[in-house]
Amino acid sequence: MQRILVIGACGQIGSELTLELRKKYGNDNVIAADIRKEPPVQIANTGIYEIIDVMNKDALRELIKKYNIDSIFHLAAILSAVGEQNPAICWNININGSLNVLELGVELKLNRIIIPSSMAVWGKYVEKENVCQDSVLQPTSMYGVTKVAGELLCDYYVSKFGLDCRGLRYPGIISHETLPGGGTTDYAVDIFYSAVKGEKYKCFLSENTMLPMMFMADCIKATIDLAEADFDKLEHHSNFNVAAMSFTPKQIFEEIKKFKPAFEIEYVPDFRQAIADSWVYSIDDSAARKEWNWKPEYDITAMTKKMLEVLEDKFKKGLLCVIAALMFLFASFNANAQTNNADSSQTNNADSSQINNADSLSQETQPVQADIKSGWQTESTSINLGFLMGGGGLLGADFEVLVFKNIGIQIGAGVSPIGSFGGGINFHFKPYINSQFVSFQYFHQGFYDNHYASYFGPMYVFRAKKRFQAGIGMGAILSKGPNWDYSNDVPIALIYNIGMYFPF
Ligand SMILES: NC(=O)c1ccc[n+]([C@@H]2O[C@H](COP(=O)([O-])OP(=O)(O)OC[C@H]3O[C@@H](n4cnc5c(N)ncnc54)[C@H](O)[C@@H]3O)[C@@H](O)[C@H]2O)c1
Repeated sequence: MQRILVIGACGQIGSELTLELRKKYGNDNVIAADIRKEPPVQIANTGIYEIIDVMNKDALRELIKKYNIDSIFHLAAILSAVGEQNPAICWNININGSLNVLELGVELKLNRIIIPSSMAVWGKYVEKENVCQDSVLQPTSMYGVTKVAGELLCDYYVSKFGLDCRGLRYPGIISHETLPGGGTTDYAVDIFYSAVKGEKYKCFLSENTMLPMMFMADCIKATIDLAEADFDKLEHHSNFNVAAMSFTPKQIFEEIKKFKPAFEIEYVPDFRQAIADSWVYSIDDSAARKEWNWKPEYDITAMTKKMLEVLEDKFKKGLLCVIAALMFLFASFNANAQTNNADSSQTNNADSSQINNADSLSQETQPVQADIKSGWQTESTSINLGFLMGGGGLLGADFEVLVFKNIGIQIGAGVSPIGSFGGGINFHFKPYINSQFVSFQYFHQGFYDNHYASYFGPMYVFRAKKRFQAGIGMGAILSKGPNWDYSNDVPIALIYNIGMYFPF
């Protein structure tokens, strides 16, 4: 595999698979495509993204030719819950979309096509425990019907045209990065979000509904391991069983309770219960283990620990942002109140009631008055120089001008090692440039192939009366570039800088 196309790259699995393939095969060699107009930020910022409808065979042909694609991971599909509500659309996209990919695979002589299947292929007539590789396939959901037909189609193209086509039957996939796209196992992701937020979880499956599940890291590993396996050693092709763990809503709830003792759950089964009841409890994946050495790394305990760790971290950072935003609102409200007091006391100086007014000035207003009298607050512009200024450059400069009493606008640029630019709107605590302020800042570090990341968020900036200034805040990460360390996959970063300001 040298030039890879991922179709369905904005989905739960496609988005994480694309990033992993880019790490492995290079950003430029993995083209992401999906029908969605707006891809996830990381997909857009790490490589090429193309909008494609897999139903449009001509457009797909052009896309494959344009990028000289040799391998396709085809993940565009309508999942079980949505498919049961729209059976005809589910059939059309899951079957005719796959048919387009397979046809073009033969026409353009592609090296490899991977089309995932699902545990939905089995119906009620198989053994529920450890369902074996070659069990009877009689699904009762439309999604299951399309997955069986999809597997058969792939096998047909392997035997009839010698196309290298592979697939694996994913169980329910659990991820802390992307939300699921309308499946029956979505509860196993949703439940973690409720646990972390401290909410009671309303489960749409009954407490003893046992289903096979897999952590996303294992799902990505299985997909890439199968894609890289030696074709000649494969006896099966499109339908490998893969397993990692099986649990019921009650079991995962109890596992979470070990970390979150106050967590509560309520079981309110809906139409998805019937779909789940038609699925198996556990899967025998000995063919995958034998033919391409499949082995999962996460069981229920390791997965629960990791999910809670990552989601709690994200949740805490989100809370910090809210607290910072509240602090900013409080600070600007306070600053406005002070300015109004100062203004009204000056206006009333000639008034006969000036003594009363002076008495009624709050204690916070008096330092403002003193500063105004001393004259050091008269400047309304400043140049700031220092470390991580100018949008996060190692050495950067910003220019700030007060456009209203308390409000300044700032822009700047930095140099070394990758260049930067940035800007902000500053809400000063007092109506002059030398005062401390809360700012909403944009940082942009690096460009094009050297792009590191961009951030936006609130920052508190301390300014001493003479020259020194330092800022600290939280920035939501808006984009991540090729230079970003993707093992450090956080949504929010600490932003800070330190340096000198020169008012004039
Ligand atoms: N997530 C699971 O738990 C799970 C379990 C078993 C099997 N699977 C299979 O794995 C594959 C990927 O699943 P997922 O969970 O990432 O699904 P998802 O619904 O999250 O993503 C599917 C993606 O396909 C895109 N898409 C839909 N119609 C399209 C079209 N006409 N053209 C181009 N793109 C289109 C959607 O925009 C979406 O981004 C599917 O084949 C699914 O059946 C998933």
